[in-house]
Amino acid sequence: MEKLLVHGGSRLQGTVTISGSKNSALPIIAATLLTGERCVIRRVPDLSDTNYMVRILATLGADVEMASGNVITSAGKISHQAPYDLVRKMRASVCVLGPLVGRLKQAVVSLPGGCVIGDRPIDLHLRGLEALGAEVEVKGGDVSVFARDGLRGAEINMRGKHGSTVLGTGNVMMAAVLAKGQTVIEGAALEPEVTDLADFLNAMGAKIEGAGTRTIVIEGVDELGGAEHVVIPDRIEAGTFLVAGALIGDDVILENVCSAHMTGLIDFLQQSGHLVKELAGDRLQISSASDLRGNDLVTGPYPEFPTDMQAQVCALCATTPGISVVTETIFPQRFMHVPELNRMGANIRMEDSTAIIKGVERLSAAPVMASDLRASAALVVAGLGAEGTTEVNRLYHIDRGYEDIDDKLQGIGARVERVRQ
Ligand code: EPZ
Repeated sequence: MEKLLVHGGSRLQGTVTISGSKNSALPIIAATLLTGERCVIRRVPDLSDTNYMVRILATLGADVEMASGNVITSAGKISHQAPYDLVRKMRASVCVLGPLVGRLKQAVVSLPGGCVIGDRPIDLHLRGLEALGAEVEVKGGDVSVFARDGLRGAEINMRGKHGSTVLGTGNVMMAAVLAKGQTVIEGAALEPEVTDLADFLNAMGAKIEGAGTRTIVIEGVDELGGAEHVVIPDRIEAGTFLVAGALIGDDVILENVCSAHMTGLIDFLQQSGHLVKELAGDRLQISSASDLRGNDLVTGPYPEFPTDMQAQVCALCATTPGISVVTETIFPQRFMHVPELNRMGANIRMEDSTAIIKGVERLSAAPVMASDLRASAALVVAGLGAEGTTEVNRLYHIDRGYEDIDDKLQGIGARVERVRQ
């Protein structure tokens, strides 16, 4: 196992290049299963999650390789059964369901496990596939989906009690592109990753309109061809570096960002007094400010404040003067970072799915335990500003979603080192 030693107190300065989006690359790699022709996906971050998805495609029989940020696939002859031992490790594997049942008229995928941020149901995914005419059976930890006579277009409402579903919208979209007739998805997720997937599917020959709005209309086609695609920038990686710069940065510049995808976070930072500037050429600049004040936020579906940035902002608010109130509505249990931040001297009190954060002067280093991808990132951010050396254990969590995070942090002046335990 590896851990990251974070020596706190070094000011951050310089330019960091943001990688392609993990949450865009994963469904797009799955979408290449919809054709036997060659696809090239560029700017894919080299993460354990993207490597898992590549391994799943290879196990299904696709000819796939990943090298220097490009995934090249030809899914000629593929099986409809996804391997349990791989799928169970990554929830996002569920998005092979749509392309498999869309192309092969059947799919068997193991049910995604829950995780520390909360249970991760797929009822909305399955409801959407059933609306397209598939029969769904959940048995022995597997979900089997089959459509003997192929899928046919339908009107589908994808809304759930916590709003829309990002991967659910993608799954149903990938199943519908080869269905007979028109599909209308109501209550679609608005996230940029859904739009990026739709752009890739259209490049393959699909007929999708309305991605990025609540209503997506898909005209089924007979087959899809190969395509090339460059993945959008990772708005959550960018947000994480933005928060680090807000905490202890002097003119940190992020390049290869799409600030239009980050308005929820940028608005929050600016309202709190942080100095965020948009620069020409897809760049953002951030410096820590002095006259900061506590601020409140409620996470919500895009374009509201993203749940994937909630933990990192809690770390920032831990040393922001005043009171900050952070409410999580997407994954109400997503506060595994709070006890660890309190071990570092933060003053955070929980009330149901709301964190009441009273800013303290400075955190102090401690050995802390990473529990999930974004909580780990929050602990690294906290360590950057803390007194002393913070040990962030179970680094594999962070390697799921942050490409070369130690190199990137060192590149802007952070004193961090990865050590094998
Ligand atoms: C995507 O997960 C992201 N992952 C998550 O990022 C992100 O937190 C989440 O969207 C919300 O923005 C990827 O894109 C790979 P959802 P997804 O379906 O699609 C409920 C990260 O840190 N729900 O939009 O799985 C669900 O419980 C990860 O990069 C149902 O009730 O999330 C949640 O409360 C973590 N039934 C809400 O909807 C369903 O069938 C939103 O979940 C599906 C979801």
